[in-house]
Amino acid sequence: MFSCLIMSSPFEVSVLFVCLGNICRSPSAHGVFGAQVQRAGLNEKIYIDSAGTGSWHIGNPPDPRTLAAATRRGYDLSSLRARRVERQDFDQFDYIIAMDRQNLIDLQRLQPTHFAGHLGLLLDFDDSSELTEVPDPYHLDEQGFEQVLDLVEAASTRLLEHIRTHHL
Ligand code: 4NP
Repeated sequence: MFSCLIMSSPFEVSVLFVCLGNICRSPSAHGVFGAQVQRAGLNEKIYIDSAGTGSWHIGNPPDPRTLAAATRRGYDLSSLRARRVERQDFDQFDYIIAMDRQNLIDLQRLQPTHFAGHLGLLLDFDDSSELTEVPDPYHLDEQGFEQVLDLVEAASTRLLEHIRTHHL
């Protein structure tokens, strides 16, 4: 069992969600999981962040369609800003959670050999999901953004159960 790797951190577990652009899927996961953690009263124990493997949107807020879909469900993602995942993230996060298989491959290339945390796909936490990846909604319509939230809400619930069982 490992503890939060963030230096001098009061947090017990840290979770980084990663997609390609960090403006659609991973900020959605960041906000949804954050709301679940807050509701569970665990926001002082679980640190959450998100990042992208690509650099096009660094410094930008989430995509307007991501913000709108999240707002319809009561999640406020407006304070989030995109950043690129870095090798140092492997020294800081216990869980690095990819949205799709290409994200995972890119993260595995970046992963230092000494990384002792968990690197895997978000939907692997949800046995009931028919999908194994969260589809990239960037070129899809509103329904694609709703599907992201459906998948992320279900899997985040399972991820939180997993973290509570194993670490808290
Ligand atoms: P995300 O979606 O990886 O879920 O943030 C994308 C956002 C932007 C691009 C691709 C995917 N893009 O090519 O700019």
